[in-house]
Amino acid sequence: MIIFALQHPIFMSETASITLGDKKYDLSVITGTENEKAIDISKLRDQTGYITIDSGYKNTGCTKSAITFLDGEKGILKYRGYPIEQLAEKSSFIEVSYLLIYGELPNQLQLDNFEALLKEHSDVPEELKAILAAFPQDGHPMAKLCSITAALSAFFPESLNLQASKAEQNLTLVKLMAKFPAIVAYIQRHTLGQSYLSTDKNADYVTNFMNMTFGSSTVDEVVIDAMNKLLILHADHEQNCSTSTVRIVGSSDCNLYASVAAGVAALWGPLHGGANQAVIEMLEKIKNDGGDTAKWVAKAKDKNDSFRLMGFGHRVYKNFDPRAKIIKKACDDILNKLGINDPVLNIAKQLEEAALNDPYFADRKLYPNVDFYSGIIYRALGFPTEMFTVLFALGRCPGWIAQWKELRENKEPIGRPRQVYVGETERDFVSIEDRQKSAVAQ
Ligand code: SDX
Repeated sequence: MIIFALQHPIFMSETASITLGDKKYDLSVITGTENEKAIDISKLRDQTGYITIDSGYKNTGCTKSAITFLDGEKGILKYRGYPIEQLAEKSSFIEVSYLLIYGELPNQLQLDNFEALLKEHSDVPEELKAILAAFPQDGHPMAKLCSITAALSAFFPESLNLQASKAEQNLTLVKLMAKFPAIVAYIQRHTLGQSYLSTDKNADYVTNFMNMTFGSSTVDEVVIDAMNKLLILHADHEQNCSTSTVRIVGSSDCNLYASVAAGVAALWGPLHGGANQAVIEMLEKIKNDGGDTAKWVAKAKDKNDSFRLMGFGHRVYKNFDPRAKIIKKACDDILNKLGINDPVLNIAKQLEEAALNDPYFADRKLYPNVDFYSGIIYRALGFPTEMFTVLFALGRCPGWIAQWKELRENKEPIGRPRQVYVGETERDFVSIEDRQKSAVAQ
């Protein structure tokens, strides 16, 4: 009997080999369901005494995940296998949140129960208002969000018990989703010196959030639809900087709320989620400088100038960010429907036009990313610029929850990267007296 089947490529386990000196080592290769390939180096140091190094982890995977797939070269993004274009067009943020967290689109009963649980737990402890009151009103909203998210683990100590029953652990993650709209609304109203509005248990998740933020009289369907779309587009994005932070903090058996608070901090950076605020600040600066986009594109290309075109470029997308395409259309729609003519949008379009036709950006595959247009929509919807990254966090909340939950379900080990030491080699201690003597002698 010929056992050719075992020799067939589809069954043969692919290996990579490296040669170090006169020794050859075979490393196994794993292939994902979308045919991504990875060389498994989990035993490399034991086998060879060598580690790998990869500043910024541009070539290094930290996990095998079933939540989000993206292909940067082709501009593809899918949540649990569903293309982002279809979800943005046909689904709701709550339905997509359920999909990310539990792995499947809910049936009607599951969706109704999820929404009912979110409503049941949508209030926040009164004491959180006292924490907010302790902040300077003009303190950055991300500082407020980071602190209050971590504080939830003090108000809900059951969240610290990672051995709790599945039902109790599920309630802990539902509470985070449920309370984020009120927390974000309170943060905006605290920042604007406005009184807080109570949760509207009769409204859906997004409508309740907008009502708590702006008051129910100012919110209409066009705005709710745009907000749903924006939150869906921000819901997850595989192992980006803030999600990897949530995972590495969660890998120490840290509770969900503190892990997500760490993710909020990572998202704040202008190279990451803070870019949507930085985009508007950049557009405003260009507008106030006379709107000469060519001058600013030249600055972005100048290696001696630290200025970068915020909202352009992406660590993974070397094609158009699929979310940017959807947001750009939503941006045009919402501005037309609301009758807004925003000079900043015109500058954004001129910048996009200039950059997309400039070899510097084309050669480096720098295209507009999700943040390039999202700030303009948030601005059109009436949010203050400093709130934009908080809104990014509101959208990313289900993704962070899903990724933290997956890490725990997969019982992944504590994250602890290695390093290559490049400091001083061993030397003996010198007393301060002798150090003084040698200093004087010099
Ligand atoms: C998000 O990872 C995610 O998934 C993140 C995110 C998510 O959903 O979670 O998608 C959200 O964070 C989107 C990115 C938002 N950030 C910005 O828009 C900030 C501006 N963009 C850049 O700072 C930059 O593009 C990064 C940080 C996004 C990516 O940087 P990389 O991958 O580390 O690339 P790099 O810095 O090595 O740049 C490569 C080259 C360099 O030029 P050379 O040295 O080759 O000559 O491209 C240049 C860079 O100078 N470059 C830019 C540029 N971005 C890169 N030049 C001008 N303007 C820019 N924006």
